Amino acid sequence: MSFAIRAEGLVKRFGSTTALAGVDLAVPAGTILGVLGPNGAGKTTAVRILATLLRPDAGTATVAGYDVLRQPVAVRSRIGLTG
Ligand SMILES: Nc1ncnc2c1ncn2[C@@H]1O[C@H](COP(=O)(O)OP(=O)(O)OP(=O)(O)O)[C@@H](O)[C@H]1O
Ligand SMILES: [Mg+2]
Repeated sequence: MSFAIRAEGLVKRFGSTTALAGVDLAVPAGTILGVLGPNGAGKTTAVRILATLLRPDAGTATVAGYDVLRQPVAVRSRIGLTG
């Protein structure tokens, strides 16, 4: 199966706040994913990591098969993001 997004063990801390505590994600290509959760759950933090705008403290992720940390230009050329 081909995956649009794969993430394993994403961790992000802001000072004493743990925004992401080990997020795993596997999104098959050609599907739509909705991310739901209460305010402060870490949704925007996860999206910012997947969009290469923020570096995780731990964990790995690929978007369209490209590593968000090692191949950010390839990721950015394949995604659109708006606020
Ligand atoms: N730049 C930052 N500096 C400090 N703390 C941050 C920062 N960004 C996010 N946080 C904290 O990390 C946690 C997750 O925030 P995030 O914005 O990812 O949540 P969210 O799920 O998108 O929330 P909302 O539904 O309100 O948009 C919250 O406790 C937030 O206060
Ligand atoms: Mg948000």
